Amino acid sequence: MTLSVITLAAGKGSRMQSEMPKVLHPLAGKPMLAHVLASASELDAPSLHVVVGHGAEQVQTELADFAVHWAVQTEQKGTGHAVAQAIDAVDDSAQVLILYGDVPLISPTSLRRLLQAAPDGLALLTVELEDPTGYGRIVRDDAQQICAIVEQKDATFEQLKIKEVNTGILAVPAVHLKRWLPKLSANNAQGEYYLTDVIAMGVHEGLTVTAVQPEFSYEVQGVNDRLQLAQLERIYQQQQACKLIQQGVSIADATRFDVRGSLQVGAHVQIDVGCVFEGEVSLGDGVKIGPYCVLKNAHIGAHTEIASHSVIEQARTQEGCQIGPFARLRPDTLLQAQAKVGNFCEIKKTTLGKGAKVNHLSYIGDASVGANANIGAGTITCNYDGVNKWQTQIGENAFIGTNSALVAPVCIGDNATTAAGSVVTKDVGDNELAVARGKQRNIAHWQRPSKQ
Ligand code: UD1
Ligand code: CA
Repeated sequence: MTLSVITLAAGKGSRMQSEMPKVLHPLAGKPMLAHVLASASELDAPSLHVVVGHGAEQVQTELADFAVHWAVQTEQKGTGHAVAQAIDAVDDSAQVLILYGDVPLISPTSLRRLLQAAPDGLALLTVELEDPTGYGRIVRDDAQQICAIVEQKDATFEQLKIKEVNTGILAVPAVHLKRWLPKLSANNAQGEYYLTDVIAMGVHEGLTVTAVQPEFSYEVQGVNDRLQLAQLERIYQQQQACKLIQQGVSIADATRFDVRGSLQVGAHVQIDVGCVFEGEVSLGDGVKIGPYCVLKNAHIGAHTEIASHSVIEQARTQEGCQIGPFARLRPDTLLQAQAKVGNFCEIKKTTLGKGAKVNHLSYIGDASVGANANIGAGTITCNYDGVNKWQTQIGENAFIGTNSALVAPVCIGDNATTAAGSVVTKDVGDNELAVARGKQRNIAHWQRPSKQ
């Protein structure tokens, strides 16, 4: 049997108090709806259908990476009406799984459990809640068989006491759904076409309904406001931290750790508090990261140490490098083995050769720096003339004196030296010393001015 997943995402989400459609609000750096579609995609070759309404075009654009059959629900007349907008594109022989764009943490494990519970029947994901207020209640008969779902606003006083609630997530054969949806009526307290009414229809036809519980209760928590989103963000991040800790990573505090993308780690990695990992980040064996670092699309070689407050974006290092504290590596930076970048240095579009050092207060951009070169404090590559960017090449074992300004395009040879404070505008050959600064004069018996 083929699987079709219909995700409902048409709602406005007024309580988010936002211009953005609710399902686009990010959790761990990506839209809630993307989490749902990613989990669905892990199931057995599903076709994905999404019902959009508010901000439909924006939602479609932001999720263009997923192969989705889009259905548009222009007016929100209830969950049953929403599913009806997508059902025509679903194959008659399919099993349909209903998901919600604002229930982002549902896991493939729980969904598989649900699908396997009744492969060609009706299965509901339910949970027991201490406080079931607001949810549809699962009504069971004397034999404990499910016979209906009753919405909070339609429930009797007795039914309101039921603690088993509908998460909204259900599996149902398409043939049945296609027969039942046209029969839904909006004759209820909210004047909506309730999807939940199909349960009673199925029971009426003699079908049994199976209830399955999710692995973790947070998986079925919906997001209606920003506080609920913030709570799920923390749950998600702690869960990621715990997974990494179990893989052997030493994370100083699982509650102060954020991954917004994917983080690959080697053995014996240490991560201090407050670090943020965005996009695709990999950390080799024995990497140590100090507090409050931000790494985005970065690949860090084995045994590299990154001290606190360093920001690394779209950069790579080989093994044994030392970075920070307060270092900034910008896109297209490569540090070869054992290179060092110290405090208040900014490196952009530059390769630092093996063992090269830029230890203090420098800007090195559009440059290549040879192995074991030493770049003195305050060195600047003057790479921009106001119109074009130019390259600086620094040879192996070069020694760039403190506060040198290297005016690109310029080449500094192997073993070359520049004197401190030099403004270097011409190439310097191998083994040469460049002195490009005013000569010092000492004036004897200098009279200081006196107060008038
Ligand atoms: C629904 C269930 C309820 C369950 C609860 C779980 C029904 C009738 N009720 O109630 O049993 O306990 O979810 O959270 O299904 N949506 C559309 N188009 C619509 C209406 C809704 O796309 O016309 C989407 C919403 O954007 C939302 C989801 O469907 O993502 C659920 O809708 P919502 O109005 O929140 O349903 P509830 O009243 O909470
Ligand atoms: Ca809801």
